[in-house]
Amino acid sequence: MRLTDQEKSILDGEQDAAARIALAVLVDLGELFGAEELMTVSQVHIDATLYMVDAGLEFAEKMADLGGKVAVPTSLNPSAIDLQQWKAYRVPPEILPKHKRMEAAYLKMRATPTWTCAPYQNGIIPRFGEQIAWGESNAIAFANSIIGARTNRYADLMDICAAIIGKVPKFGLHLVENRKARILFRLKEFSTQMFENEAIYPLLGYLFGEMAGDQVAAITGIPPNVKIDSLKGFCAAAASSGAVGLFHMVGITPEAQTLEMCLHGNKPQNVYDITPELISKAEDRLWTMKKDAADLVVAGCPHYSPAEFIRLAQLATGKKVHSSVIFWVFTNRSVYAWIKDAGILADLTDAGVMVFTDGCPLQYPKETWHFNGAMTDSAKFANYCFSQSGFDAAYASIEDCVETAVRGKICRSESLWRKQ
Ligand code: F3S
Repeated sequence: MRLTDQEKSILDGEQDAAARIALAVLVDLGELFGAEELMTVSQVHIDATLYMVDAGLEFAEKMADLGGKVAVPTSLNPSAIDLQQWKAYRVPPEILPKHKRMEAAYLKMRATPTWTCAPYQNGIIPRFGEQIAWGESNAIAFANSIIGARTNRYADLMDICAAIIGKVPKFGLHLVENRKARILFRLKEFSTQMFENEAIYPLLGYLFGEMAGDQVAAITGIPPNVKIDSLKGFCAAAASSGAVGLFHMVGITPEAQTLEMCLHGNKPQNVYDITPELISKAEDRLWTMKKDAADLVVAGCPHYSPAEFIRLAQLATGKKVHSSVIFWVFTNRSVYAWIKDAGILADLTDAGVMVFTDGCPLQYPKETWHFNGAMTDSAKFANYCFSQSGFDAAYASIEDCVETAVRGKICRSESLWRKQ
């Protein structure tokens, strides 16, 4: 790779040791992918924030101890636990110190303690065309596809290196030519009424991700009035079932105001139709619960927005979560403060809903809860639940999630696509 004099001096150790290590890693990455040079990014979102094994913690601590400081505004993905309300969260005390060490390492590097996987709703938000380096699959898909910012799918630890240097190798989705759609998905036989049920969007994303894999794909037929939280659910699901970093939702993605725009004047290599029947089958794959055993209801994967809390409060206020069910909702500290001030938090707490900040329900240490099965309005959570947590899940609308939690038994409404 061609390096500037300043980059060479960092590799020669003229800055701190953390910068030397970070830059060496980035140069290796660039050479692996055939990049010719490094490029500046305006911000970074670090995904390596969950304590899972000691290696991740030790790398963050080592970089902090060696003098590493973020060079550009840097937001943080969730921790595994609620760092502030961990007692209410039944966190085994013996695992707390490692999470707190992780928190201390990132704060020492001067990252912004956003602790959220929806940094595009409450974080350091990029604009169209901005070159950024983000980790966290749902956020990457959202940044590229809904905002039109430019990032690769940066892996854990690589994101720390990018934050310390403020640069990444120039390759992949940072370059216009690699952002061209190569395949096309068309929504067929969907009625307007089907799109009024917001539970359809995560299902569409889940199926789209399965079919698109790691290819940049265009999709037509999504209504232009789709809500931002539905796009969030689509992105999260697509990036969990496929290695989706960028898609072009025609009429919505800034680079895809028309199909021709995102195909860069070419024809798609393959065209696939998505029908209500396929969505119904995808929904079945996200319902692995074998018996009437939902003793956990999970919302906020990705972290809930104010609009989602308003909807949840409309559904849950005045009701009571059944004694056999735990109802968790995850969000970030800013939204938590807003719903607290607005009285929404009190209504939800009265209903028996537990609202946490900072954490991720998939990574939370569940040994102290002993769940049998989870119902969730997140296709991403349903997709990963068994492999990450060891119990079954069922994807459903938030309306069905609330009814299930209140009645203490599975409630599953009919949907137009399931009747097909
Ligand atoms: Fe966020 Fe964890 Fe879901 S990081 S997207 S809550 S799996």
